[in-house]
Amino acid sequence: MPPDHSFAPTQLAARAAYLLRGNDLGTMTTAAPLLYPHMWSWDAAFVAIGLAPLSVERAVVELDTLLSAQWTNGMIPHIVFANGVDGYFPGPARWATSALAAHAPRNRHTSGITQPPVHAIAVQRILDHARTRGRSTRAVAEAFLDRRWSDLVQWHRWLAEARDPKGHGRVTLYHGWESGMDNSPRWDSAYANVIPGNVPEYQREDNTIVTDATQRPSDLEYDRYLWLLEEMKSARYDDELLPKVMSFAVEDVFVSAILAVACDVLAEIGEDYGRPRADVRDLYAWGQRFREGVIDTTDERSGAARDFDVRTGKWVATETVAQFAPLLCGGLPHDKERSLVKLLEGPRFCAHPDLKYACIPSTSPVSREFRPREYWRGPVWPVVTWLFSWCFARRGWAERARLLRQEGLRQASDGTFAEYYEPFTGEPLGSMQQSWTAAAVLDWLG
Ligand code: SER
Repeated sequence: MPPDHSFAPTQLAARAAYLLRGNDLGTMTTAAPLLYPHMWSWDAAFVAIGLAPLSVERAVVELDTLLSAQWTNGMIPHIVFANGVDGYFPGPARWATSALAAHAPRNRHTSGITQPPVHAIAVQRILDHARTRGRSTRAVAEAFLDRRWSDLVQWHRWLAEARDPKGHGRVTLYHGWESGMDNSPRWDSAYANVIPGNVPEYQREDNTIVTDATQRPSDLEYDRYLWLLEEMKSARYDDELLPKVMSFAVEDVFVSAILAVACDVLAEIGEDYGRPRADVRDLYAWGQRFREGVIDTTDERSGAARDFDVRTGKWVATETVAQFAPLLCGGLPHDKERSLVKLLEGPRFCAHPDLKYACIPSTSPVSREFRPREYWRGPVWPVVTWLFSWCFARRGWAERARLLRQEGLRQASDGTFAEYYEPFTGEPLGSMQQSWTAAAVLDWLG
């Protein structure tokens, strides 16, 4: 049951800052102390957003660590492993990227897949905070931008080219982990066609930490996750070969919307800080292409977005948070956008009568696939609340942004900084002390 006390904003911010300090290994912040004892790509971006109001300098270090592990083809890997830290599976030995992948870094162990491209948002938050500080802090942020600009553009270019070679305006993923929403109902039909072959023996670690099996993906799901790793290894993580060998390939509409926003944000930074015009032009063009790609997936009446299963050639409509991708990046005609906002704010999502807080559940409580405790199949993820509130503020929807922030903070005021929450009871679930939950709180209260 949820703790019955709640922390006042100043206490909550202090605890969030203390948490990030506790999860700090020096130059990287673990995503969570036990369950995720390494650096995750999109977690690191959110962590940098939370660190920026505390220390611009430390936020810059976080992104520098992540970008130091960028692959030479431009991919930012989804995990950068902390040296000498065990306790997470699959670890470096299972991924074997250093031995197999031509583009993997030589001085750092990483996974061989990617994650949602939210990093430009973190860069913008860092620059925003730096502008309110003294000259030396501003210089640190600007030196970071000088040092990493081409890496950030190359990251976006890799997504636009290697992951959208046909120019659909949608990012193709070859593993559900790349979406960040591992076991969302969005991927059920695609995973049904992943038939595990000879999966080398393995032992899960996650379920020794979160011991309530109803909160984590199942063993069958893990077999599929691990089988996809074997398929990738057979292709030596080669961008050209993955489309040929992978039995899971989906165009992810949510990641595509994030990329559209991130391209615009990076382009704006480029304009403000005098970066090469050609880069700015490319970024705006990608932003436009991915926005159109998202809009092309939407339902004629409701405006709800869909994913696309590349293997079966079918659209995948699910009652999940991914339906609302167009609200992140904009571009829907006015009446369709109004319908989609109504859906978000109506009883199938935020105004469901049994919700404890008016946050967006990962899967609609009225969906047949809804499981209130199971990872991405129902719980509310504070970092998703943050992402929507930030995007809504950017789009000029101040009141909607304020409401999500208010509800997100009410939920987080239990002080557990849980990875996700049961939508009806507010019970904190998954990992406690999750870095990105603390980061969201710090940005909200900053
Ligand atoms: N989210 C995955 C896990 O649970 C990996 O990215 O380990």
